[in-house]
Amino acid sequence: MLNLVSRKASGLNGRIKVPGDKSMSHRALMFGAVAIGETTIKGLLEAEDVVNTAKAMASLGAGTHRDDLGVWHVQGVGVAGLQSPKGDLDFGNSGTGVRLAMGLMATTPLVARCVGDASLSRRPMGRVTRPLQQMGTRFETSEGGRLPLTIHGAKNAVPITYSLPVASAQVKSAILLAGLNAPGRTTVIEPVATRDHTERMLTAFGAKISVDTIEGVRHVSVEGQHEFTAQAVEIPGDPSSAAFPMVAALLTEGSHITIENIMLNPTRTGLIVTLLEMGANITIENRRQAGGEDVGDLHIKSSSLRGVSVPKERAPSMIDEYPILAVAASFAEGTTRMAGLEELRVKESDRLAAVEAGLQANGVMTSAGPDWLEVSGGGAPGGGRVITHMDHRIAMSFLVMGLASRIHTSVDDGRIIATSFPDFAGLMNRLGARISEPEAK
Ligand code: S3P
Repeated sequence: MLNLVSRKASGLNGRIKVPGDKSMSHRALMFGAVAIGETTIKGLLEAEDVVNTAKAMASLGAGTHRDDLGVWHVQGVGVAGLQSPKGDLDFGNSGTGVRLAMGLMATTPLVARCVGDASLSRRPMGRVTRPLQQMGTRFETSEGGRLPLTIHGAKNAVPITYSLPVASAQVKSAILLAGLNAPGRTTVIEPVATRDHTERMLTAFGAKISVDTIEGVRHVSVEGQHEFTAQAVEIPGDPSSAAFPMVAALLTEGSHITIENIMLNPTRTGLIVTLLEMGANITIENRRQAGGEDVGDLHIKSSSLRGVSVPKERAPSMIDEYPILAVAASFAEGTTRMAGLEELRVKESDRLAAVEAGLQANGVMTSAGPDWLEVSGGGAPGGGRVITHMDHRIAMSFLVMGLASRIHTSVDDGRIIATSFPDFAGLMNRLGARISEPEAK
């Protein structure tokens, strides 16, 4: 475990880029693995979660390597070409990695054992194994349907129509990926729209994807057993990583930063919408399209925020951003209420409980229910040591809190940040933050 401390900063300034989008990075590797030909990926997130996906694709027979310029190359094997791996597939901390890979493997007759770290081994997998079983896939799981599990891909896969019982892009994507090698049409009905990178990127690869909105509900379909072609993919910066320097700059007096090349897909921008409602000084310039996604540069200046009520309908578009929003809310004037948070209970940690405990440890008044959180603003005194529960976003959120608190904050496990944002502390410190191991001053 790596203790990290974050001390009050006197203003963040500079122009930065954050690493590539995590959701797109996993998908580019996986779609490249089952395309025909060599896919190249620029801007891939080189963090533990994504590197584990690259290793898994290589173990399944799709060669992957990084060249000297930092471009990743994936040798695709076609939609039916994946092979049983020799050893276990280790997905580390990543729910996206394992759940999407389960879909990708589900309709090819291979056998693979999937494992992960202690956090991933606690997370529910039934949400993915249930629909995949309907397609003919067999699973041997650990207690409660969890990891480690062995997947036996279907020899004679059956396409399905499936209505999502939870708002989850991972479940949607797993079924669509299984549909790639099922005969006929597989359809996912999505009562609440979630991030749509799978649909967009598979379309760019030339897969037969269609999206129909019927009475406001999205029906996403894939025609299976059609080969598609390798692509040159460019991945913009991850808005979920940009969220940390963004909120840090808002909360730290005398700050003005620019974060370049951020993906601004509307299914991912709920935090920006919320911060603008709170009075944040954020402007978006240089809006453009890149790699099938909206992209822009963010300019952020220190701002006085006010508490708001965040509607539950917004949850899917900011599902990973509630911990950092809770930190922003601690410094706002008045109370912030967030609803529709039930999925936070099953992330890398029980994020609702971890956020509540972290706020309380740092002197912030808060209360939470099964699916809601209320945070009283006015400033966080700080001084607390936060338990991260192997959750990178809990670690980064409470390190941001320390930059604006009266007394420093600390987290018990900064190492877990490497799963999504390996240079987080370095990048923040180059802007003027003071994040370090406890001994250093
Ligand atoms: C992701 C979907 C979300 C999100 C995760 C990435 C994806 O998970 O929390 O960080 O890339 O599809 P759920 O599908 O569980 O909501």
